[in-house]
Amino acid sequence: MTTTQDLAKQAAGRAAAQLCRDGMRLGLGSGSTSHAFVRALAERVADGLDVVGVPTSTATRDLALSLGIRLTDLDTDPRLDLAVDGADELDPHGDMIKGGGAALLREKIIARAAERTVILTDESKLVPQLGRFPLPIEVLPFGWASTTRLVAELLRGHGYEFPDPARRLKDGELVVTDSGNHLLDIGLTAIRDAATLALELNQIPGVVENGLFIQVADAVVVGRPDGSSELRE
Ligand code: A5P
Repeated sequence: MTTTQDLAKQAAGRAAAQLCRDGMRLGLGSGSTSHAFVRALAERVADGLDVVGVPTSTATRDLALSLGIRLTDLDTDPRLDLAVDGADELDPHGDMIKGGGAALLREKIIARAAERTVILTDESKLVPQLGRFPLPIEVLPFGWASTTRLVAELLRGHGYEFPDPARRLKDGELVVTDSGNHLLDIGLTAIRDAATLALELNQIPGVVENGLFIQVADAVVVGRPDGSSELRE
């Protein structure tokens, strides 16, 4: 069944596909909204648009290939023209929590490699303050419990409660990211200084990356269930 949120995601995806031009090297995000974009992009490619993409996950790679979108990698093309991705939460400054789909590490690398990053969302993800969505933190499997203890110390030092450390599971199985790591999901309710927290988390040995995307979005496309969308620069 197609929900109103699916329709909003599709509207955002279609709008983002219209931003793509011949010759562009594109970052292809992960998650259902990004995949709506990849599908809309594939229609334009079938009509003759000449672009090449770098996927942020194996799921996006498989989808893009199945739809006939040409792919490259950052070793071949270290600079991208445009990255298009989704978000789990987006605040009024365009800062985000990402990683609900376990692809945050490659998403951040690809967003930073792009001259412009456009984030697709529906209204439900727009929040006054980040933190309601549990913050994903990608950690190395080696020493994860020790890394988690250091993360907990840091968060307590900032006045946050820290629940029992647990790595992300899916269908009862430990989630392993495309880069072979594990994820912590930390409910912080309201994140007060996201920029500082993002930097401090990444200083902990064993933390590979965190899901706070600060000053990464250059523009946001808000899709609506009626098929319309708004580009916010
Ligand atoms: C993937 O790791 C995430 O950063 C996604 O961009 C995010 O989870 C959005 O997913 P949906 O578009 O499926 O809501």
